[in-house]
Amino acid sequence: MKILKTVSEVREFVKDKKTNGKTIGLVPTMGYLHEGHASLIEKSASQNDITIVSIFVNPTQFGPTEDLDKYPRDLEHDTKVAEKAGADAIFHPTPSEMYPNGYSTYINVENLTAGLCGKSRPTHFRGVTTVVGKLFNITQADRAYFGQKDAQQLAVIKRMVYDLNFNIEIVPCPIVREESGLAKSSRNVYLSDEEKREALVLSRSLKEAERLFNDGERNADILKKRITDIIEGSPIANIDYVEIVDFETIQPISEIKGEALVALAVKFGNTRLIDNTILRG
Ligand code: PAF
Repeated sequence: MKILKTVSEVREFVKDKKTNGKTIGLVPTMGYLHEGHASLIEKSASQNDITIVSIFVNPTQFGPTEDLDKYPRDLEHDTKVAEKAGADAIFHPTPSEMYPNGYSTYINVENLTAGLCGKSRPTHFRGVTTVVGKLFNITQADRAYFGQKDAQQLAVIKRMVYDLNFNIEIVPCPIVREESGLAKSSRNVYLSDEEKREALVLSRSLKEAERLFNDGERNADILKKRITDIIEGSPIANIDYVEIVDFETIQPISEIKGEALVALAVKFGNTRLIDNTILRG
């Protein structure tokens, strides 16, 4: 497996493959790979001739008081996980390779980024779409793989691809959970044992919402109230939001008819976790 560090190395790597009609799958990540990432890489490897995994802790998507410096990094571990899952190359650029001196261009998807995580992280999605747009251009990928765990990110990226006519297919992949129900996340490493235990209220509350929905409940306020009550059963949970929105537009809904995203963000200690489920009406 190749480790590519510069934009020109990636361009060189993909050039003859593109000319020979090979398909390229891209799995954008910030590294510290877990089974969730491995599932995206495996999916890409099964659908494309070549799979590139980008590993880049993207500074522009972190706010000034967020965890950019302490975000976990382990390239040696990531290399093993990526190779085992079927990657052909890792793209691991430096921040100055991605954002050279004088960098001035950003992609901003409006409306979908105003609510949910965009409320408490106002510059986050601008950083995500900018780096993802750059990665699409650099790798010339045919398909890109994103986990549904970051459901708002997925909706925002789909919108960007549609609006800016990127010639790429976005492939959403299901959330991978620990046996306990906790959604896999690189940030789980920050949790103490107690916080990890208490964080199970998240998947439990979503399961209960799914149960109520399957029993016929369509009222978003009733579902949100039930979720909130379960989460507040944990003495250390600090809710940022519990929302039910249209999965495409990320606008709040009161009655579930089409595809609804039930999304939540909750802090345990200093760690903010997100989780979600999709309800199909
Ligand atoms: O989901 C992530 O890990 C990041 O937001 C992404 C898509 C790799 C962009 O930096």
